[in-house]
Amino acid sequence: MPLNMLVARHLSRRPPPASLGTLVKACTASSAHVTASFSPGATSATKAGRIIAPPTSLASSASIPSRAFAASASLKENYDHILVERCFPENSDVVGGGVGVITLHRPKALNALCDALFEDLIHAARVLDEDDDIGCIVITGSGKAFAAGADISEMSKREFANAYKTNMFSQWADITKMSKPIIAAVNGFALGGGCELAMMCDIILAGSKAQFGQPEINLGVIPGAGGTQRLVRAIGKSKAMEMVLTGNRINAQEAMDAGLVSRVIDSELLLEEAVKMGYGIAEKGGVAVRMCKEAVNAAEEMTLSEGLRFERRMFHSLFATRDQKEGMSAFLEKRKPNFTNE
Ligand code: CAA
Repeated sequence: MPLNMLVARHLSRRPPPASLGTLVKACTASSAHVTASFSPGATSATKAGRIIAPPTSLASSASIPSRAFAASASLKENYDHILVERCFPENSDVVGGGVGVITLHRPKALNALCDALFEDLIHAARVLDEDDDIGCIVITGSGKAFAAGADISEMSKREFANAYKTNMFSQWADITKMSKPIIAAVNGFALGGGCELAMMCDIILAGSKAQFGQPEINLGVIPGAGGTQRLVRAIGKSKAMEMVLTGNRINAQEAMDAGLVSRVIDSELLLEEAVKMGYGIAEKGGVAVRMCKEAVNAAEEMTLSEGLRFERRMFHSLFATRDQKEGMSAFLEKRKPNFTNE
């Protein structure tokens, strides 16, 4: 049983819905794994000195129950820099209706994206992407920082040959290869690689205290994980150019006005709202959801006529799914559809 899954309050694969305010889990095994109990907002330390704490805003939200991750073969024993939770709506039997929440958790460095953190993130995202109980993924940080960028102390030692030969940061784009929608719930700083990570996600929700920026110019470099490309597509050339050339930050409302984020939400409610949005997406037909994501993302790569053809072919193919039969029958029968994601 992964230790930080313990943070995520594990029980069994599909236990009855439990409030986040209840917990918890007994975990045995190595000295680092101890029985722990959880109260909202509380932190507790294991014998090994590891801090066990819930993602604060989610934990304080009694309306979002969480189910635990069972012993999935694919999960690592430990994640050092993230917390992972599987959340499910109360009293719901929606197939694949859960939301996987990944919280970047490197508080002392404002969630600076070191290599090890990104490895954890990609691993957990892949596991959740393959998890049939999960229909949507949320990536979030803390109140102070979503992520303050790539880890500058790690980067400062790199040389050109090494950066080039290892194709530094190319692996980050694996986040864009997930088939399920990913919502970035951004509070605090989303700078450099943090802003770029948010832009790799499918929807960005901004907490009212969020700040976005590409300050790499202040370090003598340029954005290296998509900042000069995705930002232009999101907010247009002039604003993107201003941000990358000056390194100046924009706040949540400015990001909203520019089209970088889809909504600004009170920072205290951000994660709860992101998970609710995730539930809303996860209850739709899973094949159509994935195709929506694929088609919208294709729009950034294709000409209009190619994109329209791609969309139409995907639309046609959905008539081979049970969800299409169910969705349209349910409408005609004036009832809620029961999608099975097939
Ligand atoms: N890398 C490594 N450590 C970082 C970090 C980063 N990107 N950002 C913050 N930290 C660390 C600080 O070094 C500090 O550590 P210590 O306590 O050990 O000194 C700790 O986090 C807290 O940071 P501050 O004391 O600076 O906190 P603050 O509230 O005064 O300022 C901040 C916050 C404005 C975000 C400031 O930390 C900052 O400017 N950080 C760097 C932002 C940046 O330049 N990001 C781009 C990185 S390059 C990149 O991302 C390339 C790419 O395209 C992928």
